[in-house]
Parts: sequence; structure tokens; C-alpha cells
Amino acid sequence: MLYISIVVKLIIQLNYKNMKKVGIFYSFNTGKTQSVGERILKEFGDIAEVVDIETVSTSKLLEYDLVVIGSSTWYDGKLPDYWEDIIPEMKKENFEGKNIAIFGLGNQQGYPDNFGDSLHYMAEVFTPLGANLVGFTDPAQYDFNESKALKDGVFIGLLIDEETQPELTKERIANWVKELKAKCL
Ligand SMILES: Cc1cc2nc3c(=O)[nH]c(=O)nc-3n(C[C@H](O)[C@H](O)[C@H](O)COP(=O)(O)O)c2cc1C
Repeated sequence: MLYISIVVKLIIQLNYKNMKKVGIFYSFNTGKTQSVGERILKEFGDIAEVVDIETVSTSKLLEYDLVVIGSSTWYDGKLPDYWEDIIPEMKKENFEGKNIAIFGLGNQQGYPDNFGDSLHYMAEVFTPLGANLVGFTDPAQYDFNESKALKDGVFIGLLIDEETQPELTKERIANWVKELKAKCL
């Protein structure tokens, strides 16, 4: 009996070690970004954890098989100030081959000429550092004039608009996480 319980424990430990890990990074001082981050966490389940980007070293991102980054767009198409403070440190890391998926919060009616530009600015940080951007999405259900998040007809991440399309958030998160699990884990 003791022998069986030891073997079962070993199998569980081995499985845990082999399990791929997902880190979801955003600022815990945000409103909607935090709430969407928590919903993404629930969708991934036990393999994921949320991390406050303002309280850790940027090397923390290297601990995960899949890194999910969240940021809203502020001030006519800019990143929030806290990200601007973190980015110089981030640029010292090497993300060669690391799968990185970006989610962004925006408002397509209030800011139709800069909708969700944060995706673009995040991609500009991580792509030159060797990251493999994943989780591109279809812009068909949105209504805006311009967005830097669009590349070759797709969004280079997930865009959530809690102000004008909150009813679509649940499905958007579910589809995105399903695709990321299938491709990266
Ligand atoms: C001052 C201000 C500027 C904003 N600028 C943009 C913008 O340029 N593009 C956009 O898509 N959304 C913009 N938004 C909308 C926010 O991205 C949106 O409200 C988001 O849900 C905020 O998330 P947070 O509470 O996590 O920061 C702006 C909001 C504010 C208050």
C-alpha cells in the first residue's frame, strides 16, 4: 500500500514538472485590464498564474512557456505610464523563441483612430527581442477607423472593449485561450 502511494506521488510530481506554465502579466493597479486578466486566468485554469508586472523583475517572464501580456491603450494611442517605465528594463532581456501573446483594452467608439494601439507598441518591444508573437485575432466584429494593432488584416493579439462591446468579452477570451492552448501548450 505504501509502495503504491509513493509511486502515485512520484507520477503526480513528474507530471507537474512536465506541465507547461502560463504567466499572465499586467499591472494590478489597473481596472479593466486586471479584470480581463483574471478572466483569462480562469479560462487557462491551474497551469496559469497572474503576476503584477509592477512588482517583479522583467526576468520573471522567462520562467514561463507561454507569456501573456496585458495593457490598455491610453492618451490617443499610447501605452500607460507604468509600462513606459518598465520597457527600458524589458529591453535588456532575451526572449528568443518565447511564445508571447498580447491582450489589450481599448474603446473603439471613444478612440476610433487609435483603437487598441497598445498591441502594436507591445509587439514593437518584444519582436526585436526574439519573441514569437502568438494569438492573432480577426477584426471583423469591431467598428473603428484606424488601429496600429492591425497587421496584414488581423489584430496582433486580443482586443477587448469593455465599454462598447462587453457582451462579446466572454466568447473572445474563450476562443483566444482555446487557440493558445492548442498552439502553444
Ligand atoms: C484618457 C484616456 C485615453 C484613452 N485613450 C485610448 C486610445 O487611444 N485608444 C483606445 O482604444 N482606448 C483608449 N482609452 C480607453 C481605455 O483603453 C479603456 O477605457 C480601457 O478599458 C481602460 O482599461 P484600464 O482601466 O485597465 O486602464 C482611453 C481612456 C482614457 C481614460
